[in-house]
Amino acid sequence: MKRWAMYFVLLLLVISKIRAESYSSNVEAWKGGEGIEEIGEQLWVEEEEDEEIGGIELWRTKESGKNPVNVDSFGAVGDGIADDTQAFINAWAKACSLENAVFLIPEGRQYKVNATKFKGPCQDKITIQIEGTIIAPDDPKQWDPKSQRNWLTFNKLTGVRFQGGGVIDGSGSKWWAASCKINKTNPCKGAPTALTIDQCSGVRVKHLNFQYSQQIHFAIARSDSVRISGVRVTAPEDSPNTDGIHITESTNVAIQNVHIGTGDDCISIVNASSNIKMKNIKCGPGHGISIGSLGKDNSTAVVTAVVLDTAIITGTTNGLRIKTWQGGSGYVRGVKFQNVKMIDVQNPIIIDQFYCDSSTPCKNQTSAVKISGVIYKDITGTSKSPEAMKFACSDTVPCSGIVLNNINLEREDGIAQTYCNCAMGIDFGVVKPPADCLKNTACGGGDKEKYQSALVQHGKLQELAVLAGDEIGTRKKPMKTSGFRISNAEATFLLWSDSGQSLHLIPSAMSAAPQLMLLPSPNPPPPLPSYKNSCSVNKLKPD
Ligand SMILES: *[C@@H]1O[C@H](CO)[C@@H](O)[C@H](O)[C@H]1NC(C)=O
Ligand SMILES: *[C@@H]1O[C@H](CO)[C@@H](O)[C@H](O)[C@H]1NC(C)=O
Ligand SMILES: *[C@@H]1O[C@H](CO)[C@@H](O)[C@H](O)[C@H]1NC(C)=O
Ligand SMILES: *[C@@H]1O[C@H](CO)[C@@H](O)[C@H](O)[C@H]1NC(C)=O
Ligand SMILES: *[C@@H]1O[C@H](CO)[C@@H](O)[C@H](O)[C@H]1NC(C)=O
Repeated sequence: MKRWAMYFVLLLLVISKIRAESYSSNVEAWKGGEGIEEIGEQLWVEEEEDEEIGGIELWRTKESGKNPVNVDSFGAVGDGIADDTQAFINAWAKACSLENAVFLIPEGRQYKVNATKFKGPCQDKITIQIEGTIIAPDDPKQWDPKSQRNWLTFNKLTGVRFQGGGVIDGSGSKWWAASCKINKTNPCKGAPTALTIDQCSGVRVKHLNFQYSQQIHFAIARSDSVRISGVRVTAPEDSPNTDGIHITESTNVAIQNVHIGTGDDCISIVNASSNIKMKNIKCGPGHGISIGSLGKDNSTAVVTAVVLDTAIITGTTNGLRIKTWQGGSGYVRGVKFQNVKMIDVQNPIIIDQFYCDSSTPCKNQTSAVKISGVIYKDITGTSKSPEAMKFACSDTVPCSGIVLNNINLEREDGIAQTYCNCAMGIDFGVVKPPADCLKNTACGGGDKEKYQSALVQHGKLQELAVLAGDEIGTRKKPMKTSGFRISNAEATFLLWSDSGQSLHLIPSAMSAAPQLMLLPSPNPPPPLPSYKNSCSVNKLKPD
């Protein structure tokens, strides 16, 4: 009872802070008023003026002021046999030195290019117009040992546009056959990523096709403000480690209208990435959409503010997955998956904190990457395994703030169920299979006391997703109330933090105090949550 009282006082303090701040907050930011969803929308910036208008490609015209640099003019042969590496290197040097350059790979040809780094910074913003096919030499034995992990890398560019509808073909089959995942007698060695965008900002990738990569098809690394749309990735279901789009150490990344079928994760998001939005994603075959893996070899990893909205996931091993290794540290916080249709997915919803992709078994450890504030909303479809929802969280670092709303996952033959290990959260609306274990499962397998105390800890204004702020429960105008009740009666209150950056979840142990219902609404509402690296949409509009 005393503890509750303490939290209640704490809560009042926070609320009075919110009120105080909100009166001085910038009302301008609130024009339009509906809140969080809008922040999300900012990343989707309407399709900007295209380079193609009514069939005429603007960049080709003299009036555009563009400077096309055609690889053919530098001796590229484009017959799929000749080595065009040097022609590409020379053409790049030229394009990079010009203003308004278009680095042109013409259509209808196949250019064989070795592992190459296309370095910036360049004189000006640049367009990389890939209309034909760039194909990799297929023999791992001939591959430059100095770049075992990369094929085409674009580095340190600001304001760059990749487009043209062409193909990037990794010719990966010999690499796959040489993988230790395919044949255990092979040594475990890394293989190249087909295309890497590294240390770039203001990047636009539109209409490109990736296929048969040696490993990862397309990586975004150490970059900011990246928009990807209309990308297709194709590789066989049994090709090892052929992730579709891989995001690492990057911020403000939007992936929209992509179709990925491959042998590993369709999209994987790893360490030091935040504000990642995905919309209209088709995934399958493959391993689903993943955050992780994180925390390998006791490493620290942080991933925050990830949103997936609208996806169809078909015939994959996983649907929506968060995977972390034992022994890691750091956190995953603020994730929302919504409007997802699953068709015959092995593990539709899965948090796996015992991930172990290694030939030797992994031991359980006390340290783990903390997972909190993960929302699953409007997820439907079919599960191939009995455990349609699996929250396998660390015993020592339990998952918290798991929110399930309107889930309907069925098993074609048999009963679907939810598995929890040390996962705490709430559910409301229709949730099938039922997920009572989020509220009831004792952490560590039976220790109710331990669970209760974890719940109370969790009550210390546990951070929930910043992007969680849409209509949970009965709330209509998310930003206009500071405290509110979700439909599940006494369960939970959500409210804005004083910084306006996050929502806080207070579990039933505390919210039982009915006074909380009477909290006044701040007026005007609290400031818009902002990210440190807020998405600079302008950077994405180089033209
Ligand atoms: C490309 O790789 C092949 C095979 O290793 C090699 O013979 C050739 O010289 C390389 N091209 C360049 C420009 O380095
Ligand atoms: C695995 O690789 C070994 C050595 O390279 C080879 O002898 C064997 O035939 C391969 N096995 C399969 C199933 O391909
Ligand atoms: C995670 O990202 C941080 C920040 O970029 C970096 O310093 C650290 O080395 C990364 N950790 C791993 C395991 O890659
Ligand atoms: C990770 O930490 C554990 C516990 O301290 C230790 O036993 C293990 O060897 C470490 N693993 C690596 C890869 O450093
Ligand atoms: C690790 O802990 C989990 C959850 O308590 C348990 O299911 C699993 O068997 C343990 N694994 C090992 C290798 O001890």
